[in-house]
Amino acid sequence: MNHWIDIAYMLSAGAFIFGIKQLSSPDTARRGNMLSASGMLLAIIVTLLNKGILDFQWIVVGVVAGTVIGALAARLVAMTSMPEMVALFNGSGGLASLLVAWEAHRRSPSPEVFQNATVLISVFIGALTFTGSLIAWGKLSGKLPGRPFLFPGQKPLNLVLILAVVGLTVAFCAGGGANLTFFHIVLGVALLLGVLTTIPIGGADMPVIIALLNSYSGLAACATGFVLRNNVLVVTGSLVGASGIILTQIMCKAMNRSLGNVLFSGFGSASTSKKQDKIEGEVKPISVEDTFILLEAARSVAVVPGYGMAVAQAQHAVHELGQILEANGAQVQYAIHPVAGRMPGHMNVLLAEANVPYEQLVEMEAINPVMETVDVCLIIGANDIVNPAAAEDPSSPIHGMPIIEAHKARTVIVMKRSMASGFAGIDNALFFRENSRMLFGDARQTLQGLVAEFKG
Ligand code: TAP
Repeated sequence: MNHWIDIAYMLSAGAFIFGIKQLSSPDTARRGNMLSASGMLLAIIVTLLNKGILDFQWIVVGVVAGTVIGALAARLVAMTSMPEMVALFNGSGGLASLLVAWEAHRRSPSPEVFQNATVLISVFIGALTFTGSLIAWGKLSGKLPGRPFLFPGQKPLNLVLILAVVGLTVAFCAGGGANLTFFHIVLGVALLLGVLTTIPIGGADMPVIIALLNSYSGLAACATGFVLRNNVLVVTGSLVGASGIILTQIMCKAMNRSLGNVLFSGFGSASTSKKQDKIEGEVKPISVEDTFILLEAARSVAVVPGYGMAVAQAQHAVHELGQILEANGAQVQYAIHPVAGRMPGHMNVLLAEANVPYEQLVEMEAINPVMETVDVCLIIGANDIVNPAAAEDPSSPIHGMPIIEAHKARTVIVMKRSMASGFAGIDNALFFRENSRMLFGDARQTLQGLVAEFKG
């Protein structure tokens, strides 16, 4: 019997690994998701049946209830609220690991040092992930203020608490896991640390923290896997832990910041925001009709989508206009910034949903060297990722962040509703440049207007 269980776990682990691999391309991402989900279903059923934890009927009830909740969440949650949902998922993962390790210790306490250490590691990371994710969710959804909350002595306090956890863990293990007071204090400190380490991080950096918390939830699951001696949980937890930290690094790199800077600098707080230089120049609005004339004559068009395209749900209209421009003889490319929008791959997912061919998507590094040859750069609800201050103004809070150099195109058309700032809360000199025109309005309506102009 054990043989079969191990084989089933190997199959699940294989499904996770190949599923994740397939997620790296929009062409195969759906299949990858299904493959990983099937691996998870197999792992759940095998584990529950094997351990005799639940009868078959209850497994069916659990799977049905989970499927209904998951399907409803996937359908009802807006694409722009996806980071909040991921925050809640991470928090649930952390809570589940904490509860399982706790119950495992309650049911079968063991004097083994390794067993007790993994129980406390699981409880510590799980609890920290749980409260940290709740704070991240609150900040992202606007239920809590998004600005960093800093107070004197914050970092030394965190350090003291972490040292206390290390000391208590050693004492707990040395005492054969019998002293539950140590256990409860570690649990309480971890819950507190989740809050204390997340409140100093500004809303602008929350997506990075979501990826980091995702990694933590994986590590908590991995530790729980050691507690339960369950191989598939160790494999899954490690995969989530590793992919979360890789994603965190990718996001930090795309913003030209170190993880330490994200975690400890309080980016966006009053003390870190520098005064911006006054922007010179004049804002030149343009009408849909005049934009149509420019686009009709353009031989090469670069579309730069940003968060506003997601808000306006303009991806289908973008693609329709792109097809018309191509039929009109223009070369159309979609320039994707790695942190455009509010989550990794946000623009790729939206454009894939609208069936924009993957080959037309170009990365920042590929479009920037040829930007000077682009006739019209069409910016659709993007702001920070095309702000030249990142390259030119050392006093800018986003100085050093790589950008799509839209300002180098022959003409820049910026579609947005107003002169409001973007996520980083700073003005954008691009809107005042000689070659820029502002096409004000909701991106979807504006794009539909342009399509209507082309169709005559
Ligand atoms: P933002 O800088 O946030 O700008 C989005 C712009 O869209 C706004 O200025 C807004 O202007 C416009 N907009 C909103 N609704 C619109 C609508 N219905 N129609 C037309 N325009 C609309 O977005 P971005 O350029 O994509 O930059 C992303 C930001 O998020 C960066 O600062 C990045 O560092 C941060 N961030 C992203 C991530 C990931 S992983 N994506 C992670 C961490 C941080 P109006 O209100 O005037 O319309």
